[in-house]
Amino acid sequence: MNIDENFKKFSLSKEEAKKKIEKLHQEINYHRYLYHVLDKEEISPEALDSLKKELFDLEQQFPDLITPDSPTQRIGGKPLKEFKKVKHPTPMLSFNDAFSKEDMYAWEKRFLDFLGNHIHHSDKFYYCELKLDGLAIELQYKNGVFVCGATRGDGYIGEDVTQNLKTIEAIPLRLLDKKEVIENLKKEKLDHIVKRLEKNFPDEIIARGEVFMHRKDFEALNKEQIKKNLKPYANPRNVAAGSIRQLDPKITASRHLDSYAYILVTDLGQKTHEEEHLILKAFGFKINPYNEPAKNLEEVFAFHDKWWKNREKLPYEIDGIVVILNNEEDFKRASYIGKAPRAAIAYKFALKQTTTQVLDILVQVGRTGVLTPVAMLKPVNVGGVTITRSTLHNFEEIKRLGLKIGDTVIVGRAGDVIPQIIQVLPNLRTGKEKKLEIPSLCPMCGSKIIKEENGIIYRCSNKKCFAMNRRCLYHFVSKTAFDIEGMGPKIIDRLLDEGLIRDAADIFKLEEGDLAILEGFGEKSAANLVQSIRNHKKINLRRFIYALGILHVGEKTADALADKIISIKKIKRPMEILEIMEKIPQNDLETLEDIGPKVAKSIKDFFEEKNNRELIKKLDEADIEIETPFKELKKLQGKIFVLTGALNSITREEAKEQIRQLGGKVSSSVSKNIDFVVEGENPGSKIKKAKELNLKIIKEKEFLEMIEKGE
Ligand code: IVH
Repeated sequence: MNIDENFKKFSLSKEEAKKKIEKLHQEINYHRYLYHVLDKEEISPEALDSLKKELFDLEQQFPDLITPDSPTQRIGGKPLKEFKKVKHPTPMLSFNDAFSKEDMYAWEKRFLDFLGNHIHHSDKFYYCELKLDGLAIELQYKNGVFVCGATRGDGYIGEDVTQNLKTIEAIPLRLLDKKEVIENLKKEKLDHIVKRLEKNFPDEIIARGEVFMHRKDFEALNKEQIKKNLKPYANPRNVAAGSIRQLDPKITASRHLDSYAYILVTDLGQKTHEEEHLILKAFGFKINPYNEPAKNLEEVFAFHDKWWKNREKLPYEIDGIVVILNNEEDFKRASYIGKAPRAAIAYKFALKQTTTQVLDILVQVGRTGVLTPVAMLKPVNVGGVTITRSTLHNFEEIKRLGLKIGDTVIVGRAGDVIPQIIQVLPNLRTGKEKKLEIPSLCPMCGSKIIKEENGIIYRCSNKKCFAMNRRCLYHFVSKTAFDIEGMGPKIIDRLLDEGLIRDAADIFKLEEGDLAILEGFGEKSAANLVQSIRNHKKINLRRFIYALGILHVGEKTADALADKIISIKKIKRPMEILEIMEKIPQNDLETLEDIGPKVAKSIKDFFEEKNNRELIKKLDEADIEIETPFKELKKLQGKIFVLTGALNSITREEAKEQIRQLGGKVSSSVSKNIDFVVEGENPGSKIKKAKELNLKIIKEKEFLEMIEKGE
């Protein structure tokens, strides 16, 4: 199987992209309707986010396929009927999402290209904020008094939830007075703002922020719900949103919500987004102390990483970070892309559920011969780690899921750990999907497959097949072969049983998330093992040959074979071994040290066998790099001698030993591959044959010179 080929197979032409985009519209709209209007959930909000991201990426690839009704072009839900409507002074927009560094680089490029050369450079180029997982609100103050608070609604018109917001202590009912504000601004050294406000203190302030619930309050509330035999709430965000939309403010008050302000809509001359926060603070708003400027994307990544690791330590939930171009003038000039600001982005934490595509379903033969289907996935980050495959356990599971090759699926991590296909999204099918046929013959050895009584388990009938494969894998990773630390027989067994590997090459394709099935394996040990595997992608030729597990080829023979290959060509890739081995005839191999006809045949057979050639090709594709350490070539390196007749000043055994020590080989029979025939006294019939073959014949004197001085 070649994943790249499958990638191509499923990559879309413009016509196909158009169809896929339409299908994504329908699917996203359907789930949004369920979620927002009917209060139902068929897929998680995270999976829905992932679908939106897929649509966004496809639209970036084919921008002329963006339609005004695309779900990427809209903002929130419609305002509820019960509340008074409030028109926002400027639209309350949502941001585009990024899920990876690549997405962030693409975002940076998009807005930099748009802004061109005229851009303000600074050590505080970006401003990073914790992305609170709550509900966006807008707060209006007249002469310092809180007069109106609204939800986002559809982005243009929101709901008036003033009474409810007044119950939240973090939201000031009255702002600080002019003297205090100016005092505070002076402390922050915002002299240009001070100057402006001293002259003209605003009678209206509009700010935006987020209302959210602390985790401990959420847990307490759910305990109450359970006590009252009521359904527990799904997450703090839903409760925060629900609490704000309560018609009875007493209920809102009982929910202990919190709030941070993060946007100052009113123009007070703020030059950066950071200043905006300081001004908000000077007026008495609560701002998040963990927000920070960043010099470049590297610093943004460090901020993202720090908060991904520390998110559990916060008393409230965050679902990523918000990154904004700090300079206000450039930010404004960057304007909008679709309906989101071009120079701001929500860089979300890895989703625990996400959508991806099943590129193929492989049938693996486990440690005990049980066939296990495994979905090969378009690599995707789930909950912080990349997964490339997901075990399907058995063929029943494929039936249960209704899964076909090429399907778009939702993947998650069961118990937050084990990668799993949760659901197939059949509405997104393009017609190219294929059903998996249960094989009747073993994909490894071609023997018959037996269906066991329970009708779920299929097993290869050839015990030797899987036992041998298992042993080969143990050998492959062992100390004297690839020496992959941390990967012993126990782990190999587990990976085989789950169908995550079938052959040695599969080991090099494992990603951190794929190892989650290993019991007692935390993210750290998975990361270590993946690192250990990657560190062993470079291997010297002798070890590589030994690791292949060729019958009768031990370390010493592998050494001799490696020398022979190197004497022909200094190779770098596994495929080159195949090319060279094709050129070495069996009788040539027989001239190598320790290699008799039996071993030579075994070597020849190995490199001719289809499965072995396939494995070497796969190892090549897995980027295994062969190292051929520089060995000083010996005087007679690779030269083959035949000795005939008696030598005077040296015994035959001594002569053989000398030749070997100088890197040469001694053969007992004459053939066209012989480099020198040493003719002693009373030579045998070998001389006749050597003459017939036109070989180079040397006398004892010449030979002695050769072994003393070389050729
Ligand atoms: S906005 C451009 N800051 O995330 C101004 N929004 O997906 C930068 N959100 O609609 C500051 N935490 O409801 C900003 N610290 C934060 C936020 C935040 C959560 C929400 C907000 C927005 C959505 C975007």
